[in-house]
Amino acid sequence: MKIFVTGASGYIGQAVAGALARAGHEVFGLVRSREKAAALGALEVRPVLGTMEEPDTYREAALGCSVLIHCAAEYTRRYMELDRGTIDTLVAGARETGRPRLFIYTSGVWVYGNTGQGSVDEAAPPNPPAMVVQRVAHEEAVLQADGGNLRTLVVRPGCVYGGRGGLTSGWFESALAGGAARVVGEGQNRWAMIHVEDLADLYVRAAQSPWRREVFNATDRSRFTVLECARAASRAAGADGKVELVSAEAAAQQFGPMVEGFLLDQHCDSRKAVRMLGWQPCHGGFADGAERYFEAWKATAGR
Ligand SMILES: NC(=O)c1ccc[n+]([C@@H]2O[C@H](COP(=O)([O-])OP(=O)(O)OC[C@H]3O[C@@H](n4cnc5c(N)ncnc54)[C@H](OP(=O)(O)O)[C@@H]3O)[C@@H](O)[C@H]2O)c1
Repeated sequence: MKIFVTGASGYIGQAVAGALARAGHEVFGLVRSREKAAALGALEVRPVLGTMEEPDTYREAALGCSVLIHCAAEYTRRYMELDRGTIDTLVAGARETGRPRLFIYTSGVWVYGNTGQGSVDEAAPPNPPAMVVQRVAHEEAVLQADGGNLRTLVVRPGCVYGGRGGLTSGWFESALAGGAARVVGEGQNRWAMIHVEDLADLYVRAAQSPWRREVFNATDRSRFTVLECARAASRAAGADGKVELVSAEAAAQQFGPMVEGFLLDQHCDSRKAVRMLGWQPCHGGFADGAERYFEAWKATAGR
C-alpha cells in the first residue's frame, strides 16, 4: 500500500514509517528539512518536504496514498490548532476523490486522566487533564469523519520508551548531568507505557486491518511506579539509583502544562488491540530494560 505519515522525523512517526517500509509498504513521510529527509531515505521512506501550517506542501502526496497516518505534533501554543488543521486537510482530501482510504490519528492515554488502581479500556469515558481536553474533541472529529469510503481509527499510546527515549530520556539526561534522575512529584504514580517498536507494530497492524471507527490503546503490561523507572534509569546512567524529587510548581516552569500529564496515575488495558489486531507487545517494561534503553538513548543522542 501507499502510506503517508506526518511527523516522519519524530519519535513515533519515524518508527512507524520505518516499520511500515520494512513491512513492504511504499511509505511517504512528511519532514521539515532536507537533513531529516536524508535520514528517512536510509529507512526506505520517501520524504515529502513540507509543514503542517502549509497544507499545500503535502496535500498531493497524501492524496496519492490509501492510508494516512498523523503523528506530527508541534509543542507550541499552536499545537492543537495545527493538529486540527492537519486532521481537516487529510480528511477533506481523503473524501474528495471517493477512493477507499484509512486515516489513523495519534492521540494518547492521557485523555483518560487518573485511572487509579483499576485499569481502563477504550470503553471508559475520557477524563482529560486541561492540556489534552482539545485532543478528545479531535479524536471525536476523526471518529465522526468515518463514513463511506473513508475509515478512521484512533491510537492512544502510553508513554513511549526505547530508542531515542521520549519522556524517559529526561531521567537519563538528569542522571548524567546532575547525578540524579529527576522525578516530578513523589513518583508513587504509575505511567502506562509502551516500547516504541511495539507501538510501531501496532500501527502496521492497524494500517493493514479492515477496522473502522475504532480506538486502540497501545500500552504494555508493566506496572512500575515512576520512582522505580527513574531509579532504574539512574542506575543505568551510573548515578547509583539516585533520584531528585522536583515539585510540580518548579517543573511547570520548564514543562508548562505537560506537568499535569507527568503526575497522572494510570493503568490502561490494551487487550482490544490484542484481540482485534493480533498484536502483542514484546517488551516487558521500561525498568526491566533500562540499561539497554540508556545505551540506545546515548547512541541516538550522540553522547
Ligand atoms: N512520545 C510519547 O511518549 C507519546 C505518548 C502518547 C502520545 N504521543 C503523541 O504522539 C504524537 C507524536 O509524538 P512524538 O513523541 O513522536 O513527538 P516528536 O518526537 O516531537 O515528533 C513530532 C514530529 O512532528 C513534526 N512537526 C513538528 N511541528 C511540525 C510542523 N509545524 N509541521 C510539520 N511537522 C511538524 C516534527 O518534525 P521535526 O523533526 O522537524 O521537529 C516531528 O517529526 C504527539 O501528538 C504526542 O502527543 C506521544
